[in-house]
Amino acid sequence: MRALITGGAGFIGSHLAEALLAAGHSVAAIDNLATGSRGNIEHLMGRPGFRFVEGDVLNEAQMDRLVAESEVVFHLAAAVGVRWIIDHPLLSIRTNIRATEVVLEQASRHRARVVLASTSEVYGKNDHGPLSENSDSVIGPTQITRWLYANTKATDEFLAYAYHRERALPVVIVRFFNTVGPRQTGQYGMVVPRFVRQALRNEPITIYGDGGQSRCFTYVGDAVRSVIRLAETPAAVGEVFNIGCAQEITILDLARKIIALTGSASPLRFIPYDQAYERGFEDMRRRVPDVSKLRATIGYAPHTPLEENLKRIIQHMQATDQQLLLRPLVKTEHAHITYTTEPAARPSSQASTTPSPARAEEAALSTPSPPPSSLSPVAADD
Ligand SMILES: NC(=O)c1ccc[n+]([C@@H]2O[C@H](COP(=O)([O-])OP(=O)(O)OC[C@H]3O[C@@H](n4cnc5c(N)ncnc54)[C@H](O)[C@@H]3O)[C@@H](O)[C@H]2O)c1
Repeated sequence: MRALITGGAGFIGSHLAEALLAAGHSVAAIDNLATGSRGNIEHLMGRPGFRFVEGDVLNEAQMDRLVAESEVVFHLAAAVGVRWIIDHPLLSIRTNIRATEVVLEQASRHRARVVLASTSEVYGKNDHGPLSENSDSVIGPTQITRWLYANTKATDEFLAYAYHRERALPVVIVRFFNTVGPRQTGQYGMVVPRFVRQALRNEPITIYGDGGQSRCFTYVGDAVRSVIRLAETPAAVGEVFNIGCAQEITILDLARKIIALTGSASPLRFIPYDQAYERGFEDMRRRVPDVSKLRATIGYAPHTPLEENLKRIIQHMQATDQQLLLRPLVKTEHAHITYTTEPAARPSSQASTTPSPARAEEAALSTPSPPPSSLSPVAADD
């Protein structure tokens, strides 16, 4: 197929490009590098069948040319990451709604198929897992900016259905559940790369809330494999699919697992949501996908174990994190740890960073020896 990936220099987009090329398809990728990077696709540059266009999906003339040359458009470009959305609400609304309209309109004119990237966030605070595609959306108040993401993505889904029904546009909607893997950045609030980087640098692992909230993390390779299979399956047209792995873990256990896998001396630090993000910030307690529809349609569902996924992420970050490369992590017994970056602070004894006595106790139990007190603490970076 001749594929166009919007957001092709992003985390999932770059893996999708790689998988499509490996399967013999040609790929054009457009990205404005807002949250993506050239580094994500450097290894694809010059490969036969691959083309990168630095540009904006909102540029209709450019999109017209690109869509005209394509059979399938994978629309991944979006404002993503809780941190990014809260910092750029206007641009986020414009990117997530207007850009999708541009893609659907051009695809409709040029008779291209569309695979639209949506998100498990559209289920909002509905934490009765496992969530199936027909589960209710329980979205919080508009004063809380984080719900902007869920609402704009849900609007994208309505738009896609409207183009499908009124213009017979072949669309497939995919709802990604916490997709993780090498090349994902922790800069915009994504929990796994943030924890891994903190662990590798022996900095405090910053847990938002009490850590009891649970998520299911999906390996990006599994996710893009599902997406490609759906794009090739006629029965998927006009349908929405959860794409996720059923293995559930609390954020506290995730932090502990990453500490164990990296042999890190990082302590745990709990940060209340309204300090981490914004006043009144809400999070869902549990988010588990029901992937029976996906499995019934393509005979497959993501299943890479979390531990294997984390090892790949750790390895990748160890090989690419400039700070680690410049000052390699010295791994010794905790008691003799050598701090190669700014050292970790103990979880604060201030009430504001300690959500509950029970959690504080858990943190203390799982916290290795503190660094020498003469070294200054590191502030939370998100
Ligand atoms: N990673 C996840 O866990 C996850 C979960 C649910 C949904 N999604 C969805 O998957 C898609 C890809 O997300 P990702 O995790 O790879 O994030 P990402 O930030 O790495 O990818 C998004 C890409 O879109 C680009 N972009 C943004 N606005 C653009 C514009 N106007 N024109 C051109 N490019 C633009 C960014 O530069 C970035 O490269 C998004 O639609 C996101 O909503 C991701």
